[in-house]
Amino acid sequence: KRVAILISGGGSNMVALVRSMTGDHPARPVLVASNDPDAGGLVRAREMGIETAAVDHRPFGTDRAGFEAALLEPLFAARPDIVCLAGFMRVLTPDFVRRFQGRMLNIHPSLLPKYPGLHTHQRAIDAGDAEAGCTVHEVTAELDAGPILGQARVPVRPGDTADDLAARVLKVEHQLYPAVLRRFADGERHPIYLD
Ligand code: GRF
Repeated sequence: KRVAILISGGGSNMVALVRSMTGDHPARPVLVASNDPDAGGLVRAREMGIETAAVDHRPFGTDRAGFEAALLEPLFAARPDIVCLAGFMRVLTPDFVRRFQGRMLNIHPSLLPKYPGLHTHQRAIDAGDAEAGCTVHEVTAELDAGPILGQARVPVRPGDTADDLAARVLKVEHQLYPAVLRRFADGERHPIYLD
């Protein structure tokens, strides 16, 4: 299976995914693409010998369709079987999602359905939640709402700042996403839960 990974920043989830696709793993990374040409993850992908593409979303302004048409070029050229959004910070239109429906995954830093959207860690702290975590889900037209493929939980500790919690969650993201991708590439759809 050919896997394309979309990033916007440092790409730590992308690195974890790429590192997991070795040996008898049914998938291989074929492209890392970003909406930000300066994304640190692009450098890390190139260092690992992965083909990269950068399509800056800023020149397109509010023209989402225009940006997505530009992004689709390198993405289609890579002929991915699976697309992984990993720290990808642009909302995708239903048209784009439809092209990969059923084979596009995303990792979101909350225990969905709680806290879709942004600032998930601060919201969990403000709500006094005892635990937080991350979710890998299939991407559908509705933001952060597709079928759940996996979740990982961490404790929220007294005095935690959003940064403390973000760091604790990021660690388990790097465990969860590779585990889900391997099963997904094997045709598994039953959700997994890491505690
Ligand atoms: C992190 O906040 C992570 O929780 C979310 O995207 C952000 C950047 O991740 N998934 P990465 O290091 O670029 O993978």
